[in-house]
Formats: sequence, C-alpha cells, structure tokens
Amino acid sequence: MARVALIGSNGQLGTDIARLWPSTAQSERDELIALTHADIEVTDPDQVRSVLSGVQPSLVINTAAFHRVDDCELQPVEAFRVNALGVRNLADTCRRLGATLMHFSTDYVFDGERKKPFREEDPVGPRSAYAISKVAGEYFLRYALPRDHILIRSSGLYGVAGASGKGGNFPETMLRLAREGQPIRVVSDQISSPTYTLDLAAALLQLIDRGGRGTFHISNAGQCSWFEFASQIFSLLGLKPDLTPVTAAEFGAPAQRPAYSVLENRRLAELGISPLRPWREALADYLRLKGQLGA
Ligand SMILES: NC(=O)c1ccc[n+]([C@@H]2O[C@H](COP(=O)([O-])OP(=O)(O)OC[C@H]3O[C@@H](n4cnc5c(N)ncnc54)[C@H](OP(=O)(O)O)[C@@H]3O)[C@@H](O)[C@H]2O)c1
Repeated sequence: MARVALIGSNGQLGTDIARLWPSTAQSERDELIALTHADIEVTDPDQVRSVLSGVQPSLVINTAAFHRVDDCELQPVEAFRVNALGVRNLADTCRRLGATLMHFSTDYVFDGERKKPFREEDPVGPRSAYAISKVAGEYFLRYALPRDHILIRSSGLYGVAGASGKGGNFPETMLRLAREGQPIRVVSDQISSPTYTLDLAAALLQLIDRGGRGTFHISNAGQCSWFEFASQIFSLLGLKPDLTPVTAAEFGAPAQRPAYSVLENRRLAELGISPLRPWREALADYLRLKGQLGA
C-alpha cells in the first residue's frame, strides 16, 4: 500500500482532510500518515529528509504555514523560513523520493486592484510580507517539482478545528467578541470568498483521485466583505452585537490586504469537479457542526 504524508494534520484544514480521508477512493489504495508539528518541523531540512524518508510517501500534503498576516509583517524572516524555505525543504525531499507535493497558498498573492475573479494564471502582485513569502513558496514548489506539484490557492479558511496558527478563526473571533459584549469593528471594503475547510478538503480529495497537477483555485462560491461575513454569522445565530463596518484604512492593520481577491475556480471545473457550495450554506453547516446552530 502506498502512503500519503499529511503535514499539519491537527490544523483546521489538516483535521478536515484526515476526517474525510477514509471515505475517498484514494484511501483504498493509500494509507494516510498524519504528522503534527511535533512529528516534523518543515524549516529543518535534515528532519524533513529523515521523517519523509522514513514514511516513503507517494504524495505529501503540506498545510503548515506561518499565516498570522500582521505578525508576518513584523517577522518577515520567520515568514520566509516557514512559507518559502519550508516549502523548498519539502519539495527537494519529494523530488529525491519521487513524490508529488500538494501545497497551499492564498488569495493574498494577488494585488486586488480589479473587481473580476482571479484566474490561476493571472499575474501575482503580493502586498504584504506574508503574501510575498507565500509567492516565494509557490516558486520554490514549481522550481523543484515542475510536474509533480499540486498548488491550491484558497481564501478566508475556517474549520471546526480552528486555526491553531492564528489563535482561532474569524467566526470564532466574532463569537468571542460578541460573548464578551465588546464593540466589534469589521472591515467592509475587502471582498473575498470565505471557505469552509471541510468543503475544501472534499474538493481536493477529488482532485487527488483525478490526478490533477499544477495550480488550482478552490473556494466556496459567492463573495462578501468581512463585515457581511460577520453579519451573516450573527444573523444565523440571532445575535445582535454592537457591530460597525469600517474601512481597511480606519481599521489600520499593520499588513495590507487586497481589496478584492475572489478566486475563479476555473481549473477545478475543467477537471469536472463540482463547484463548492455558496459560502452562506457552508457557514450554516459549520455553525451546526460546532453545535452553535440547531439542525
Ligand atoms: N487560514 C486562512 O484564512 C488561510 C487562507 C488562505 C490560505 N491559507 C493557507 O492554507 C493552509 C492551511 O491553513 P490552516 O488555516 O489550516 O492553518 P492552521 O490551522 O494554522 O494549521 C497549520 C498546521 O501546520 C502546523 N505547523 C505550523 N508551522 C509548522 C512548521 N514550521 N512545521 C511543521 N508544522 C507546522 C501547525 O501546528 P501547530 O499549530 O502545532 O504549530 C498546524 O497543525 C496554509 O498554507 C495557509 O497559508 C490559509
């Protein structure tokens, strides 16, 4: 039986990949080896080589990242260590082992200067240290494994495990602030497609089964601002916190984010994989699974 190594298996995306793995066609052929940060440190090339040589995978799925976007602005070296050189370490080892590397990037690689969904082949224009480090990771991936890579760009991830690297995801943060009774200011002039990691995991497992290679955009359908996303969370749960829309300039985060970063999921459709459901439906299911919304 071939093996698939999943790095970051207890992160929000990793948890959902592991959750769905037993029900995929690939799982009949390949055993999933779930690796946490305690098992492998992607910034350590020797450890990457020795752990993956021990597993002998045919496919490595890397969900590890340093993605606290504002902290990356203050710690660009750390962002590069994890998001760029970490990918290089994994890609170099995959090349030696003859394995394919599936890796995750972000909608933030685009400049957000237009109002039309970004396609896979559109030029990148990163505007933050995080985005620049992720672009560098994309280049290392393609350079080391020109044919044997699967690069997925997605946006605004949330899942039941919560983003360990961010100290919680956006819905969790909104609900915490509402519980604490604090005034909540949310940016209303940045548009993207929030994506439920369970839906993303289901799509990318189909992609693996169909042998897809290259770059793919995968996100829930539709688009909204962070303010609309927050409003929908509170409306579904019947909550009425003190919520105010603000511009990104008023919010004043250290890192720039694109004003518009909707991803067109074109290559997924070309492979015959159904589009992900609209973000509102996905959000309702997430809140149900979290036990916050009745069935
Ligand atoms: N979250 C978003 O909104 C978003 C949007 C677009 C794209 N993405 C991309 O999607 C991917 C998955 O994101 P996610 O939200 O699932 O992240 P997550 O919940 O923070 O999970 C990341 C996992 O990687 C592990 N990890 C972190 N640094 C590591 C290192 N140096 N070596 C080995 N393991 C390490 C973490 O373990 P510990 O927690 O124990 O350190 C955790 O298990 C990332 O590539 C991210 O850049 C995320």
